[in-house]
Amino acid sequence: MENIAVFASGKGTNFTAIAKAVKSGLVKANLSLLVCDQPKALVLKRAKKEGIKSIVIQRGGFKKRPDFENKIVAALKKEKIGLIVLAGFMRILSPAFIKLYRGKILNIHPSLLPSFKGSNAIKDAFNYGAKLTGVTVHFIDELVDHGPIILQKEVLIKNNDTLPMLEKRIHNLEHKLYPQAIRLFLKGGLKIKSRRVLIN
Ligand code: GAR
Repeated sequence: MENIAVFASGKGTNFTAIAKAVKSGLVKANLSLLVCDQPKALVLKRAKKEGIKSIVIQRGGFKKRPDFENKIVAALKKEKIGLIVLAGFMRILSPAFIKLYRGKILNIHPSLLPSFKGSNAIKDAFNYGAKLTGVTVHFIDELVDHGPIILQKEVLIKNNDTLPMLEKRIHNLEHKLYPQAIRLFLKGGLKIKSRRVLIN
């Protein structure tokens, strides 16, 4: 079975959804490691609760980004990680790191990419007055919120929605969509043809 590492910086609701999908057998893999860059992040408590090993590596602990990333790579190698799942990891990975794990890094983004890139996607779509937003799971490439799209699903923005109501629907969808995408990856059913991900 493949060993997975989740990278997260914050609340970790996606982490928990993935951990539960692994436990239930929906995702057939070992959730071997949580990599977190924020020592106070709630996701660390979640990992403890689920009995998953975690490691905190802070960018501030290193002078240069390559040293920070080398420390992460060492932890990944130690656990023989074959798939990296970014779940609210609020750091941009360098081209060197991406090259090392090309085609093996997934990300989830709370909008229908390429709309509403960035770190406030739900709020941005809501404030823009969009009628439709959603969730995207994609491979990582060198550009932010850009790599080939694996799964996308829409969420309607209703007239009487508040931002928290919309956030709740988006997060609920994320918790279903991410395990599905990971499952497809692990089954070997994803083929990248330029920008298009073919699903078998
Ligand atoms: C998720 O909504 C995820 O899509 C978003 O961060 C949140 C993390 O929530 N990621 C991005 O915006 C990446 N650009 P969580 O910590 O509860 O899983």
